Amino acid sequence: MKTDPKNYKELTQPVYVLEEDRLRKNLSLIANVAKKANVEIILAFKAYALWKTFPIFKEYISATTASSLSEAHLGYEEFGTPCHTFSPAYTDYEFEEIAKYSSHLTFNSLTQYDRYHLKARQYNKALSLGLRVNPEYSEVGTLLYNPCSPGTRFGILAEKLPEILPEDVDGFHVHCHCESGSDVFERTLVHIEEKFAKWFPQLKWINFGGGHLMTRADYDIDKLIQILQHFHSRYPWLKVILEPGSAFGWQTGSLVSQVVDIVEYRGYRTAILNVSFTAHMPDCLEMPYHPTVRGAETLENGGETTEPTTYRLGGNSCLSGDWMGNWRFDHKLQIGENIIFEDMLHYTTVKTNTFNGISHPAIALLHSNNELEMLREYSYEDYRVRMD
Ligand SMILES: Cc1ncc(COP(=O)(O)O)c(C=O)c1O
Repeated sequence: MKTDPKNYKELTQPVYVLEEDRLRKNLSLIANVAKKANVEIILAFKAYALWKTFPIFKEYISATTASSLSEAHLGYEEFGTPCHTFSPAYTDYEFEEIAKYSSHLTFNSLTQYDRYHLKARQYNKALSLGLRVNPEYSEVGTLLYNPCSPGTRFGILAEKLPEILPEDVDGFHVHCHCESGSDVFERTLVHIEEKFAKWFPQLKWINFGGGHLMTRADYDIDKLIQILQHFHSRYPWLKVILEPGSAFGWQTGSLVSQVVDIVEYRGYRTAILNVSFTAHMPDCLEMPYHPTVRGAETLENGGETTEPTTYRLGGNSCLSGDWMGNWRFDHKLQIGENIIFEDMLHYTTVKTNTFNGISHPAIALLHSNNELEMLREYSYEDYRVRMD
């Protein structure tokens, strides 16, 4: 089907549209940073896992990062390389497979390391093991996204690490950014080095996690390259890895939806759409953030919709809070017309499936004689085919 990307008027049902040219632009920028800064930049599946586009990614990058068995499986099978894997907690029933699908495997705690490090090497001799550390410094304002917030479950504190690391630990993993600029990385790196540089001579690699939003228009790329080059000059033996997710899918497409009805309730006018904020754009409610709608002005202080062309947009789920407001359009909305939410590729297409590839609990029916009938069990294939 040929379509006009200005308005997608040929589309009459909801579609996330990924634009190849925009994706390639991001990939090429990222590949360029990796080359100039002499680091490896890998794709975090938690933000983007549309595996049918992996052949395009492979023209620019050569590895990926996973946080679950399904993501590691996807990387191994569909990307074609073993993953850099980190999980807050590996489980006995998944560990063997995870180890087989990984090249690097990072533990979130010393108890997880103790429990699994020997098994890891037993299942996959080539595995390089790492520990996630917590620098206790992050400038991420939204607590939901701050891995260093008080009481966090992520990473080992410097005071808990032994002076001499176990022999089979090759690397540190430290993730403390979210949609951050290189200035934030520069300030955060000071804390990372202050707390953890004394262990660097014992390491082969360091992974500075995700959240480096290098494809955002105002991101200072030269500064990032410079920071990384200087880091190399201080610790030339360390291989540096970055694993952003958002940066790959940033501004690469939209969610096209349609107006289904317009309802009014005492001063509030809502255009009900055939998509849902909670089901299809969950970060809008979780973060929360106000998405850009093509051709409309976003009104941050959305109260009553007294102007004739101002609307709340409502989702088609039964959740009372499945709406956002307000947007001012330049015309009265008509049933059937397209509403295009911008920048809806990263995180949406993974969160609306099985976020992070986390194995879905089975569903069972307990009969009155205590017989438990398994109605449905989920597998990697369920995760994979949802993005088919
Ligand atoms: C450990 C880890 N790595 C990478 C990422 C990807 O971050 P982003 O998509 O913000 O670049 C995340 C995001 O939560 C993460 O937790």
